[in-house]
Amino acid sequence: MNTIEYKRSSTAAEVIAAAYETPPMAYVRSFGCQQNANEGERIKGVLTDVGYGVCNSPEEADLILFNTCAVREHAEQRVFGNIGALKKLKEQNKGLIIGLCGCMAQQPHIVEKLRQSYSFVDIVFGVNGIDTLPELIARKLQSRRRVLDTPVERLDIVEEMPIRRDSSFRAWLPIMYGCDNFCTYCIVPYVRGRERSRTPEAILAEFRQLVQEGYKEITLLGQNVNSYGKGLPVPMDFADLLQMLCQVPGDYHIRFMTSHPKDASHKLIDVMAANPDHICNHLHLPVQCGSDRVLKEMNRHYTVEHYLELIDYARAKMPDITFSSDIIVGFPGETEEDFEMTLDLIRKVKYMQLFTFIYSKRTGTKAAVMPDPYTHKDKTERMARLLAAQDEIASEQVAALVGQTRTVLVEGFGRGDGLLNGRLRNNLVVEFAGDAALIGTEVQVELTGSRMAMLSGHMV
Ligand code: 5AD
Ligand code: SF4
Repeated sequence: MNTIEYKRSSTAAEVIAAAYETPPMAYVRSFGCQQNANEGERIKGVLTDVGYGVCNSPEEADLILFNTCAVREHAEQRVFGNIGALKKLKEQNKGLIIGLCGCMAQQPHIVEKLRQSYSFVDIVFGVNGIDTLPELIARKLQSRRRVLDTPVERLDIVEEMPIRRDSSFRAWLPIMYGCDNFCTYCIVPYVRGRERSRTPEAILAEFRQLVQEGYKEITLLGQNVNSYGKGLPVPMDFADLLQMLCQVPGDYHIRFMTSHPKDASHKLIDVMAANPDHICNHLHLPVQCGSDRVLKEMNRHYTVEHYLELIDYARAKMPDITFSSDIIVGFPGETEEDFEMTLDLIRKVKYMQLFTFIYSKRTGTKAAVMPDPYTHKDKTERMARLLAAQDEIASEQVAALVGQTRTVLVEGFGRGDGLLNGRLRNNLVVEFAGDAALIGTEVQVELTGSRMAMLSGHMV
């Protein structure tokens, strides 16, 4: 691992400036996880740094970039659909540059497909090449040839990259990159490469700046935040990092994701419990499934018993903590019995929220070659049962909060009737009447009703 500092390419900036009469506009769309959303903000930062403006529609753009996700096939299909729709724009505007980056672009077979079948895509770069983007654009502008390099793994951490954040009150803060876990279903370790941690100094500096700029909610990001710190010159684990960040004075709260149950520790939970003002009482702890046999096949390195022990410990320390999780339905060979163990588990844990996915085969992973005798119909039926069970669990728990008054960060307008929506520290969402000027501030809301996982209330 190597940390390097971002350097603005003035040569690239000059080439870009010379190619346009007025400042060119860029449209950047990120798919997938929060890490990608954050990297999209970095992309916009780097583009702004070399003279681009940022626009909100592809029609206005001189440069269109899709920052893609590869975690499930559906995500990839969506991106291909969206790129296909750009062909028309390119016919109308020959100077338009179209690029694809992120996790899909890190896979050689995708780059090959773009080479062969998507002649109107001009630029491709993988997950760790954001700082090189201005040079790729300059190469394209000068040579008029496509710049579709075969992706390589790059382990540098680039600090001090410019950023253009989407929100003025919620910020993403990556603490590590990559993943070493190789869960057998998952493509992430192949596309995002080996795990590497930013230094605590770099994280603290960015954190301090965010607090100073008035950010209320700071979400620490990593594929497995609980293994933070491996390979640092001075050892530090994730609990230590959290404790250190909480010493920064200010009016903010911290969220973090994603935690891996094999590495989440009592020490982490103790630090959460000791800092209720600064760390949210919510833990996203993806379990994936409730059968030890399947967990083993998934290479998850924990048992249901271990998982439940963590949950019990957290509840004992923080009685009002809420949990959320990711579940994969229909992993190769998952039997009816295995699936029922998952239903048992979610009833025991009583999650507030579940993110549920039907298993998607990812070429190159171990699970992709495992026998998979169950049909898609079997899997969708299981999914429906899982969702019905979760609706019941969530409704019951959400209803139990009615009557309480809680601190809420106002995020924006909700779906219905011009109501504001905001998030409780425990990650639940509430709708209530109020003025747009409150967006980005914290208010007290009395919770008066609930429908499924959604609360309603009024400000007090
Ligand atoms: N199929 C379905 N879901 C997947 N996830 C990761 N890989 C796959 C896959 N191949 C889910 C996991 C993970 C979440 C981010 O995406 O549940 O926690
Ligand atoms: Fe994928 Fe597992 Fe790494 Fe998460 S921990 S990114 S599921 S391999």
